[in-house]
Amino acid sequence: MTARLTVLGAGYLGLTHAACMAHLGHDVLGVDTDPGRVSLLNAGRVPIHEPGLSDLLRDGLNSGRLAFTTSYRHGAEHGEVHFICVGTPQLRGRQRADLSQLNRCVTTLAPLLERPCVVVGKSTVPAGTAARLAGELARLAPAGADVELAWNPEFLREGNAVADTLAPDRIVAGVASAHAERILRAVYDRLLAEGARLFVTDLATAELAKSAANAFLATKISFINAMGEVCEAAGGDVTVLSDILGADPRIGPAFLRPGLGFGGGCLPKDIRAFLARAAELGAGEALGFLREVDTVNLRCRTRMIELTCAQGGQDLTDVPVCVLGAAFKSGSDDVRDSPALDVAQILHGMGARVTVYDPVALASARQSCPQLRYAGSVLEAARGADVLLLATEWPEFAELKPVQLDGVVARRNIIDGRNVLDPRVWLDAGWDYRALGVAVG
Ligand code: UDX
Repeated sequence: MTARLTVLGAGYLGLTHAACMAHLGHDVLGVDTDPGRVSLLNAGRVPIHEPGLSDLLRDGLNSGRLAFTTSYRHGAEHGEVHFICVGTPQLRGRQRADLSQLNRCVTTLAPLLERPCVVVGKSTVPAGTAARLAGELARLAPAGADVELAWNPEFLREGNAVADTLAPDRIVAGVASAHAERILRAVYDRLLAEGARLFVTDLATAELAKSAANAFLATKISFINAMGEVCEAAGGDVTVLSDILGADPRIGPAFLRPGLGFGGGCLPKDIRAFLARAAELGAGEALGFLREVDTVNLRCRTRMIELTCAQGGQDLTDVPVCVLGAAFKSGSDDVRDSPALDVAQILHGMGARVTVYDPVALASARQSCPQLRYAGSVLEAARGADVLLLATEWPEFAELKPVQLDGVVARRNIIDGRNVLDPRVWLDAGWDYRALGVAVG
C-alpha cells in the first residue's frame, strides 16, 4: 500500500526516514521549522554526510513523492500518518532529556488535526512520554479520539542510516489499538515482505526498547574499555582479549572495539536520560551500573590525555600535538560529543598547540570548536608534531605507515586511540607507540 505520510523534523532521523519512505513508494511531506534547511532539501542538497541519502533525496524530489515545507498546517493536511522525528538532546547542564522540541511539535500539530490519523513517535524518549502525548493529542486535536498515537523507535546508525532504514533487523510497533497496528503494518509492508521482524507491543515497551538497546551497546563498549584498563595494569593486550571474547557466540564481536569509547548524538545522552528516567520511576538502582558505564567511557578520554603527557611532557604548553580525527566515529561528519574533539579541546586547554585533521568532519568541527587549528591533510596536521594521536577510526588513518610520517613529525610519538594500527610496525620503525588497553613494553 502507499500512504500519505508527514515526517516532522528533518534532522538525521527525519530526513533519512522521509527519503526512505518516499523510496518505498509513499507520498511524503517533510516538515522542519528551519527555512534554510527546507530550501536546501527542496533543492536536493543533503546537509549531512550519509552514504546513499543524496540519491534517495533526489529520486524522491524528482518522482514528486517527496517535498519539504516549514508549514505544520500543510503537514497536518497532508498526512494520514504523521511521524515525529524531532531531536531529544540532553538538557543543558542536566542528565535528563530535553523534550522541548517534541512537546512543541505535538502542541503545534495537534490543533491542526481535523481528520482521523495516526501520530507515530520515532524520537528516543523517556518511558511514559508516549502515554502523556496521547493525552495531549486527545485533548488538543479537533478530531479528538480519532487521532491515535503509536511509538515506533528507530535504531539507525549514522553512516549506515539508509541501509538500516531500508533493511532493518527489527521494526518495533508500540500501539494501543489494532487499528494503529494495521496502519504501521501497511506503511512497512514492503520491508515486512522482505523479512524484517515486527514486534508489536505496548507504548512503554516500545519506548524502552530503544533506551535498552543503546544502554546495552554502551555497556559492551565500556566493558571492553574497562578490561583495557585492567590489561594495562596487568601487562595484557585488550585487542587480543576482545578477539577472544568475541569468538564466543554468546558474547559476539560487535561493539567490543576497545579505544577512546563512545560519543555521538545518541549513546551518551541516551544512557544518562535512561538513568534519570528510571530514578524518577523509582527504578534508579536497577540502572546504577549505567553511571559506571558513563564514567568508564569518559575515563578513556582522560587516559588518552595521560598518555599524551607521558610522551609530550607533563607541561604541554606550546607542545605541538596532531589529532587525527574529529568525527565521533568513522563514516560520519557528526562531532556531537565526539571523543576525538573532546580530547583535542582538553589538550588545547592545557596549552598544547593542537592541529586537527579529519577527512569528512572538518567543517562541522570548525563550527563547533573554532578555537582549534585545522589542517587539510594528515601530513599538514602532523608537520612538526611532538605527539600524534589517532582519535577516530577512519580507514585512511588505519592504513598509515611510519615511513609516510618519518621526517614530517618532530618526534616519533604515536598514540593509537582506536587500536587500528599494528603496534609491531610502529615499534620496529623506532616509534614510541602507545595504545589504550595495551601494556607498553
Ligand atoms: C547508535 C546506535 O548504534 C543506534 O542503534 C541508535 O539508533 C543511535 O545510536 P550511532 O550513534 O550512529 O548509533 O553510533 P554507533 O555506531 O553505535 O557508535 C557509537 C560510538 O561508539 C562511536 O563513537 C563509536 O566510535 C563507538 N564504538 C562503537 C566503540 O568505541 N567501540 C565499538 O566497538 C563500537
